[in-house]
Amino acid sequence: MDSYDFLIILFKTLLISVTLSCLVRKLRDFKKAPPGPWGLPLVGMLRSLSKTNSILQMVEFKKKYGKIFSMKVGYFDTVVISDYKLIIEALKKDEFQGRPDFEVWQIRNGGEKNRGILFSDGVKSWHEQRRFALRNLRDFGFGKESMEGMMLHEVDELVKLLKEKEGEAFSLRNHFNCSVFNSLWYIVSGERFELDDPKFQKFIGLFSGYLDKLPLFSPSHLYPWPAKYNVARRGLWKQYQIANETVLSHIDAVIDHHVKTYEAEVNRDFVDVYLHQHFGNNSEGTSFSTKEGLSHLRITLMDLFAAGTETSSTTLHWAVFFMCKYPETQKKLQEEIDNVIGKAPVSREDRTKLPYLEAFTNEVHRRASLIPLSVYHKVLQDCEFAGYHFKKGTIVYPNIYDAHHDKDFWGDPENFRPERFLNSEGTKTVSKEALMPFSTGKRICLGETLARDTLFYFITGIVQKFSFQLDPSSDDVDIDPPKPNFIKGPYNFQVVLKSR
Ligand code: HEM
Repeated sequence: MDSYDFLIILFKTLLISVTLSCLVRKLRDFKKAPPGPWGLPLVGMLRSLSKTNSILQMVEFKKKYGKIFSMKVGYFDTVVISDYKLIIEALKKDEFQGRPDFEVWQIRNGGEKNRGILFSDGVKSWHEQRRFALRNLRDFGFGKESMEGMMLHEVDELVKLLKEKEGEAFSLRNHFNCSVFNSLWYIVSGERFELDDPKFQKFIGLFSGYLDKLPLFSPSHLYPWPAKYNVARRGLWKQYQIANETVLSHIDAVIDHHVKTYEAEVNRDFVDVYLHQHFGNNSEGTSFSTKEGLSHLRITLMDLFAAGTETSSTTLHWAVFFMCKYPETQKKLQEEIDNVIGKAPVSREDRTKLPYLEAFTNEVHRRASLIPLSVYHKVLQDCEFAGYHFKKGTIVYPNIYDAHHDKDFWGDPENFRPERFLNSEGTKTVSKEALMPFSTGKRICLGETLARDTLFYFITGIVQKFSFQLDPSSDDVDIDPPKPNFIKGPYNFQVVLKSR
């Protein structure tokens, strides 16, 4: 054998051993990855998840593969966690605090990665922006007495509008979102709109219309190319673009106005305090300074708008649906509110005296499961969890719907029964670990306090003033829609209301 042959043999041996070691490593990773259905190349499980009720399909996968299962969906590796204890554990881990690299999310964020809060990975800027927003929104009224007058005013305005509909069958679908937006946006930017202003209704309707139709597993999210090259010029993608552009240009005008009228000693709203931080001396080296700081502000405002309007308003829509579907529940609510506060405006101190109202609200959250798979998380670093290997970049779906419908925990999850959240005397609410409408862990909803306040004031206000009934055309409407979306709203039922 000459030296040339020897080199060839050496090269081949090396190639074979490298290939073998890669294969062994892949096989080992594969063995440690959570089990799950195979799916088709390039599509994964997307087709079958979009054709059926994906939530129910995941119930079947859990039975077959266990509480943690993996599946390829479109372009992405994903893992579903279908157990409330494991969700609580997983969402505490630093490695699980990312957000998927969806092209559509980056486009919404002005083409930049890690801006604002909602779609930003759990990096330094997310920590800073989230902590700042939480502290200052609280100072401006979240969960505070000062907020009460503003909330009650919004409820009054809504009641006036609803009174005009008395006796006729109509859909409440777009009746709560403008009022809910006003209560959030006033704290954020000092702005308030008239509920019957058609320009305002159109503005709010743009985003609601989009979110209303966004599927749980949306191809526009799972394939990057159409969004990247802007080839999808019609349908939902187009609607998304128009909604984003319209809302962002309004936000730009709000920031511009605040910058032009800025005074160092004046705190009108959240935008002002953010600008103090931006212009202040101690912002150097943080995400608040320079142009980047203003870009975080812009996207944070977008986040608050997007995450805070449709969520609370759809929950209110669900609340009316359950009141109509279960009239005996509505009667108990009316009796409690009549006995404790009568027709007087409700106040924050009344809250502990209205345990049935709180139990009802919790049961609405549970049975509706508004965001069934939470806002998706992403694995930031290869890690081990619950005996499995999680690869960097994997999307994690915390299955909140499963937590809310776990038979072992709730006993009768299909029934709407507010009493499950009351003590045996019915005098106090009891908390339940598996209830997590606002998710759990490090990225738990930033607006939970505001959302709870909004639901408290609005439900009390409308129950004081009206009785609700399903129109006979909606009498046999099911609770669960056949294909739940990213935000799971009720069927578009028709309601008839009567003044009390
Ligand atoms: C009933 C009403 C609401 C529900 C059910 C809800 C639910 C949720 C859920 C499930 C998440 C995902 C948490 C996670 O990633 O694990 C979330 C995140 C978020 N929510 Fe809410 N939300 C509601 C209202 C609000 C309101 C009123 C605001 C505005 C102030 C808001 C602002 C946010 C923000 C900014 C995030 C992102 C947090 C982060 O990524 O760190 N939400 N919400």
